[in-house]
Amino acid sequence: MPTETYIAGDSLRMSDKQIKRIGVLTSGGDAPGMNAAVRAVVRAAIGYGIECVGIRRGWNGLVFGDFFPMDTDSVSHILAAGGTILYTARSKEFMTSEGRERALATCKMLGLDGVVAIGGDGTFKGALELSRLGVNVVGIPATIDNDVGCTNYTIGFDTACNTAVECIDKLRDTMQSHERCSVVEVMGRHAGYLALYVGLAVGATAVLIPERELDFEVDVVERIRQSRLMGNTHFMIVVAEGAGSAVEIGKRIHEEIGLDPRVTVLGHIQRGGSPTARDREMAARMGYTAVKALKEGKGNSIVCTREGGIVLTPIEEALQQTKHLQMERYAVLEAMHATKR
Ligand code: F6P
Repeated sequence: MPTETYIAGDSLRMSDKQIKRIGVLTSGGDAPGMNAAVRAVVRAAIGYGIECVGIRRGWNGLVFGDFFPMDTDSVSHILAAGGTILYTARSKEFMTSEGRERALATCKMLGLDGVVAIGGDGTFKGALELSRLGVNVVGIPATIDNDVGCTNYTIGFDTACNTAVECIDKLRDTMQSHERCSVVEVMGRHAGYLALYVGLAVGATAVLIPERELDFEVDVVERIRQSRLMGNTHFMIVVAEGAGSAVEIGKRIHEEIGLDPRVTVLGHIQRGGSPTARDREMAARMGYTAVKALKEGKGNSIVCTREGGIVLTPIEEALQQTKHLQMERYAVLEAMHATKR
């Protein structure tokens, strides 16, 4: 847990400079709710009498000077839209000192008093570098992976979970009709948050996550056997992409159990769609908090959720923080298929 967490609105002040103009960008893998966060930043800025500049394509927008002035009209009708109107990118150029110097020059040319960077861990590593050059940056965590260590929640995770659940519910219909085994790969990069949450929500027979070393006999064969003992004739295996390939798992099930699984890789479907209420609400709160932090001179921080509240954590500290999958969910999953306890 952070040693020094700045509760939004506390007395800490890092500078009394009057904030007149800020930039906002989206970076890394896009996530449903990014547009809602951009809208909240622009509207909160307008409310404070602060001008807002939209920076396109993540950090590249600062490196190559790709930006435009934003006002209320710029963010009307985007709240419920997936994707990001600012486009996004993973900027290789910004990872170089020359690229960061060009980004700094753009910030100075625009007269930016701060930048709101919406994205994941990679985005915040860039934010830290820019803050070291003297630019006041506040990060908003947005990635469907929910794998940012300093915050309990990242914008986009709930929408991606609901998208995956909707797809798997459809798969279950046909798997049940044909009494088949389905192996579904979900995203999450190197984390199992999506897989475990979705696995519980769809009543998966088994969930394979990178946080738990795979014991095929125990985690797959035994789960299917127990499910059969409960009278099931169709099976649903959810695999986090960081835990392995659903195709390979399907082949192994065929070779070792004799079933003929059907494999589905949900892929980028999980990145699209209209954000859920949870993501829209979180985006509004985080967007507002980011602008308020800049206005109050509390920059160089990440907006985080902690036990339901929203706090500001210094970027350097935030990047060192880790969080761990709540394995309690895994225990619940196992209990759902235990033939005896
Ligand atoms: O970080 C979000 C994410 O969707 C991961 O879950 C996934 O592994 C990765 O992005 C895919 O990256 P790309 O969109 O560049 O293929």
